[in-house]
Amino acid sequence: MVKRIGVLTSGGDAPGMNAAIRAVVRVANSANIEVYGIYDGYRGLVEGYIEPLTRSDVSDIIDRGGTILGSARLPEFKDEKVQSAGIHQLNKRGIEALVVIGGDGSYRGALALSQAGINCIGLPGTIDNDIPSTDFTIGFDTALHTVVEAVDKLRDTSSSHHRCSVVEVMGNRCGDLALWAGIACGAEIVVTAQTGFEETEVLERLKEFDVIKKKRHAIVIISEKITDVDAFAKKVSLNTGFSGRATVLGHVQRGGSPTPQDRVLASRMGEKAVELLIQGIGGQCVGIKDNQIISVPIEEALDIPRSSRKKLQQLFDRLV
Ligand code: ADP
Ligand code: F6P
Repeated sequence: MVKRIGVLTSGGDAPGMNAAIRAVVRVANSANIEVYGIYDGYRGLVEGYIEPLTRSDVSDIIDRGGTILGSARLPEFKDEKVQSAGIHQLNKRGIEALVVIGGDGSYRGALALSQAGINCIGLPGTIDNDIPSTDFTIGFDTALHTVVEAVDKLRDTSSSHHRCSVVEVMGNRCGDLALWAGIACGAEIVVTAQTGFEETEVLERLKEFDVIKKKRHAIVIISEKITDVDAFAKKVSLNTGFSGRATVLGHVQRGGSPTPQDRVLASRMGEKAVELLIQGIGGQCVGIKDNQIISVPIEEALDIPRSSRKKLQQLFDRLV
């Protein structure tokens, strides 16, 4: 049976990563498996920035945002020679298997290592909820709470001033944060990569909210990388009865203490990762489907098309 495993966090950090690290350490230790923390993602793996992680090292971290291990992006990790340098660092320390907490890019690194003989299990750690093999990723719920809290505040002031708040949220081409927040905040319009963006149509709809529906405010939630929200807010002022104001929520969405839901999800997923490694399984990623913790081969997971969220989008449209 596996005796020594490593854990790393990679790509954009996400609240709940610490809860996952803690679960990996505690569940592994209770099965007499040693855990090593690999700092700064694949960069730390290649450079040998690797230290033992004990039970007490993961005390008092379940409520902390970010990741105690640090995270990084290392584009060179696509290169087999760089991967071999990482494997060499593991072999030197007798680390037989890895838990990789990150997004789909990190999964690709984990797949490459698994194919090279190091069993790796991927855990979905990203605020974007852009991994189709799981209903929810670790960090999404916390980021959603952050967005909802901010939009609720923006609505207060928008109402007072007959304004339209144009709010840009993160998502990395996945509209989940925008759509969930749109439903939770009662936004007037949600724009995502999945809905598409017809600027003149959105402006026409805003005019309707003003003239026909007599709204005191309008909230437009837009996923990042779709349009320049400052320029769009100016067009709102010029073309509708609302004065437009843009807010880019930015990296504030990545921080903060994880919600109980993210802490529990991360703990359940961390436990599953260790159980798989104990069974000698690698090359898989953990997910949650219909509230059951599952695992699927990473290769399969990377091929699953992203849902169009048709039903949720229909619900949003009905609620407006
Ligand atoms: P995320 O994991 O959040 O999707 P990235 O796409 O930035 O974030 O990927 C994180 C890291 O995973 C990259 O910096 C790189 O080190 C590694 N990675 C990404 N794609 C690959 C790949 N095709 N092969 C090996 N490693 C990869
Ligand atoms: O994947 C998480 C994420 O926050 C995305 O939503 C966003 O597009 C990206 O990372 C931002 O990356 P960086 O941390 O490099 O600014």
